[in-house]
Amino acid sequence: MNQHPAHSYEPRRVILASHREASAHVAELFASTIEQSPQTVLGLATGSTPIECYNDLIRRHEQGSLSFASVTTFNLDEYVGLAGDHPQSFRHFMQTHLFDHVDIDPARAHVPNGVAEDLNKHANEYDLAIRKAGGIDLQLLGIGHNGHIAFNEPGASADSQTRVVNLSLTTLESNSRFFNSPEKVPRRAITMGIGTILKSAKIVLLAFGEDKAKAVAGALEGPVGPQNPASWLRTHVDTTFVLDAAAASQLSDGTGI
Ligand code: F6R
Repeated sequence: MNQHPAHSYEPRRVILASHREASAHVAELFASTIEQSPQTVLGLATGSTPIECYNDLIRRHEQGSLSFASVTTFNLDEYVGLAGDHPQSFRHFMQTHLFDHVDIDPARAHVPNGVAEDLNKHANEYDLAIRKAGGIDLQLLGIGHNGHIAFNEPGASADSQTRVVNLSLTTLESNSRFFNSPEKVPRRAITMGIGTILKSAKIVLLAFGEDKAKAVAGALEGPVGPQNPASWLRTHVDTTFVLDAAAASQLSDGTGI
């Protein structure tokens, strides 16, 4: 398979002193996108990284300056085998960290269904639903320690679509912090593909902390290829990495130090 990208772009780098400033920057970007285009389609992530950003958006909603009433959202991923009411499911995460606190129409807040009877069919339908909604205008991403985006682990190809994947050992280990015991971490997930993500009009990847610095440097300055799935973002024309200084600390220009 040809792993060389047809085009290579330089993602923008926004490097801020703290994770608080980085979160506020991304929240401002999301809020202004919604204000300018109330029917916008957003791609959303779970995990520790977006929590402050979601809190900021909730605050704006509570202050009356931001409405999600006409917004459509598609989340990146969900664990296979966890129903939406399971406390560790990504649906539950989204309800508690954002959806339950804003005026989003529940019918327009999409998260893959980890207990769908036919997961492959559901995955295809998820991509179709994104297309029918007109595509994602603005996609938020975090990054895994191994460079994963959504649950596209190393090895994922640039044209992968929404599908069921096995989680890598690194991901199982880092996600076990959310489960009572490591055996309880689901081994599989349903995830948007790299190809699905790359179809978004605009992408913003948010990363904090020194433990993400190696994955960030690999994504921005290593080879573009499946060894670091976030490096595929360099084949996308409008991607911004928003980093705190610690996450930027292994970049060659020294901006993070
Ligand atoms: C979450 C997701 C993952 C996370 C990544 C970073 O929906 O798709 O790729 O963005 O694992 O997780 P945190 O933010 O917990 O470090």
